[in-house]
Amino acid sequence: MKTAGLRGRGGAGFPTGLKWTFLPKDHQGPIYLAVNADESEPGTFNNRYLMELDPHQLIEGIILACRAIRCNTAYIYLRYEYGESFRILERAIQECRNAGILGDNILGSDFCIDIHLHRGAAAYICGEETGLIESLEGKRAWPRIKPPFPAIEGLFRKPTIVNNVETLCCVTQILYRGVDWFRSIGVQPDPNNPRDPGSLGPKLYCISGHVNKPCCVELPLGVTARELIDKHAGGVWKGRRAKAVVPGGISMGFLSADELDTPLDFAGPGSVGCLGLGTAAVVVVDDQTSMVDVLYNCCRFMSHESCGQCTPCREGTQWMTRILERIRDGRGRMEDLDLLLEVAGSMGIIPGTTICGLSDGAAWPVKNAINKFRGEFEEYIRQGRPSVTSAQQLMMAAH
Ligand SMILES: Cc1cc2nc3c(=O)[nH]c(=O)nc-3n(C[C@H](O)[C@H](O)[C@H](O)COP(=O)(O)O)c2cc1C
Ligand code: SF4
Repeated sequence: MKTAGLRGRGGAGFPTGLKWTFLPKDHQGPIYLAVNADESEPGTFNNRYLMELDPHQLIEGIILACRAIRCNTAYIYLRYEYGESFRILERAIQECRNAGILGDNILGSDFCIDIHLHRGAAAYICGEETGLIESLEGKRAWPRIKPPFPAIEGLFRKPTIVNNVETLCCVTQILYRGVDWFRSIGVQPDPNNPRDPGSLGPKLYCISGHVNKPCCVELPLGVTARELIDKHAGGVWKGRRAKAVVPGGISMGFLSADELDTPLDFAGPGSVGCLGLGTAAVVVVDDQTSMVDVLYNCCRFMSHESCGQCTPCREGTQWMTRILERIRDGRGRMEDLDLLLEVAGSMGIIPGTTICGLSDGAAWPVKNAINKFRGEFEEYIRQGRPSVTSAQQLMMAAH
């Protein structure tokens, strides 16, 4: 996996082979694999496709990963809402057990492995790897302070690898088609930068929002948002233009219309001020939609999903939501924009104030929206009247 240059598809792009080497070498007790199938990032649905259309590819990847990391027990932590994926995976796991591919002494070898399918708790934070581990242990999905990282002390306090569904499907294909095949796809490492691992292999891109044909397509890492929208998603709907595009789930922030040619590889979105590639879930916002409303929606989601352990995240997400509510009600002040930036700038792992990355993911859409669409926010505040949706909400509340 190290030679293939596989980087995790769950959001952070961490090199998979390197993560596996963090496991203690001389550990005598159990080692666990936790498959992250929580798929909770808004706009993301590639794991669902993989699980529903080719569950055996995932199971094979799990078996191969378990063999590599000396693990005999894997857990699939599945997003609660994915009922169809649950039924399909349950059936596929049973088929493998019946065929002697899972269970004791598989295919006559001395290797034993079993997979437990666990339905999640329907919260965004269950996808964060240590929140997921807590939830698997039957507790509230409160992320743990790191270190220790899961590879040292994870599920049931034993060494644990957490990998995304798509990452493990890549493992299957790398073993089947070879390292050279995998490395021939995507963006090669920069030869002048020894620290650049490149963005190798195929990626499932999800495209949704204001497009004619929302879809999930597999392409080499590094395609542009423009190509995804125009070539694969049938263009922006109703003959409109894109105003903003989420490059990889809402927690990554926004590309503006003149950044649509940014390559969607692990480095591209960061080069234009976004948090990263994230899950490569592209969500399109058309030019008739208010960025104030879009940002309000993002903030409301994050404030609802914050687990509440860290003050900057718990309070910050709520403050940002309330400030945006005020702006949408026509009571905004120009200084609210800098206030939003100040709150967003002081919460998250990157400024070092929180336990997990949800807070960074809550701050980034705010930073990008205000910095890239400031004129629109100022105009909205200057007009000083509630937006249509806000007014409708008030009327509904009054009744
Ligand atoms: C708030 C939050 C939510 C996350 N949700 C998911 C998720 O739904 N699925 C996922 O694979 N990773 C998610 N992650 C990333 C995981 O913590 C972890 O990095 C990932 O599962 C590792 O897998 P990989 O190395 O194969 O990418 C989330 C992270 C954060 C901070
Ligand atoms: S950053 Fe937010 S979601 Fe993450 S542990 Fe802290 S309060 Fe919970």
